[in-house]
Amino acid sequence: MAAPSADELKSLRENFQKKNQTCFILGASGETGKELLAEILRQQLFSRSQEVVDFEKLDESAGAFQGHDVGFCCLGTTRAKAGADGFVRVDRDYIEHSAKLAKTGGCRHFVLQSSKGANNSSSFLYLKVKKMRDNALMVNSLPSHSLQGEAEARVQAVGFDRCSIFRPAVLLCNRQESRPTEWVSKKVLGVVAHIFPTAMTVPTVIVARAMVNNVVMPGKDGQKVEILENAAIHALGQAK
Ligand SMILES: NC(=O)c1ccc[n+]([C@@H]2O[C@H](COP(=O)([O-])OP(=O)(O)OC[C@H]3O[C@@H](n4cnc5c(N)ncnc54)[C@H](OP(=O)(O)O)[C@@H]3O)[C@@H](O)[C@H]2O)c1
Repeated sequence: MAAPSADELKSLRENFQKKNQTCFILGASGETGKELLAEILRQQLFSRSQEVVDFEKLDESAGAFQGHDVGFCCLGTTRAKAGADGFVRVDRDYIEHSAKLAKTGGCRHFVLQSSKGANNSSSFLYLKVKKMRDNALMVNSLPSHSLQGEAEARVQAVGFDRCSIFRPAVLLCNRQESRPTEWVSKKVLGVVAHIFPTAMTVPTVIVARAMVNNVVMPGKDGQKVEILENAAIHALGQAK
């Protein structure tokens, strides 16, 4: 997906605003979600609304998913914080359930924040949970603990008119929450980022702007799913 010029973007935003669409953000209090919310408000692209939902009783909040044209998902936790089961529950089950409610509620474009290297054959639970899988039979026959959580595949299977999957590398932000391992890797990667800015990291502000830019751009004809790897996120997120 080529990044639009400043003039093109201006015109795309104006056209999008005229459509008077609404959106929801899952994980709006997180590091990427906060940037996304700020960018959406700054550009005044959507009508505003905010609802707090209990993900354990999501069906009771189905109304919160009614009538939104676009859904952004920046939801996620860590294994350290939630345990393996909790991680799969948030990063797969909550996302899938929300996507289904959104689709029922009329959402046409779902934007999912996944992760670079998402890979169902990885031995890392994190990457398995994030991974796109197109062999549903295999998913069902494998242990639930590992493969049920392939969020990308499950969101795709919901069948949105358009589904944009973002696969950012390590997120750069001033994280409030203490994550020692992530902190150390970011110190190292911060040096790499100076030399190869798009290789292994991406600032959350760039991810957020890339998501918003993606939404105002029309999807490609006949292509329901688009996957944006880290370099594409950088390119699109830098367009202002
Ligand atoms: N960290 C990285 O370097 C990296 C790299 C690539 C991709 N990603 C992925 O990108 C996504 C966003 O990452 P991020 O670092 O911006 O997220 P984050 O700061 O960890 O925020 C996650 C969001 O999910 C919400 N959440 C977590 N557990 C929840 C629960 N049990 N119930 C309800 N809400 C819950 C949080 O709500 P509260 O604020 O209420 O906790 C927050 O709004 C995640 O899927 C992550 O795996 C991360």
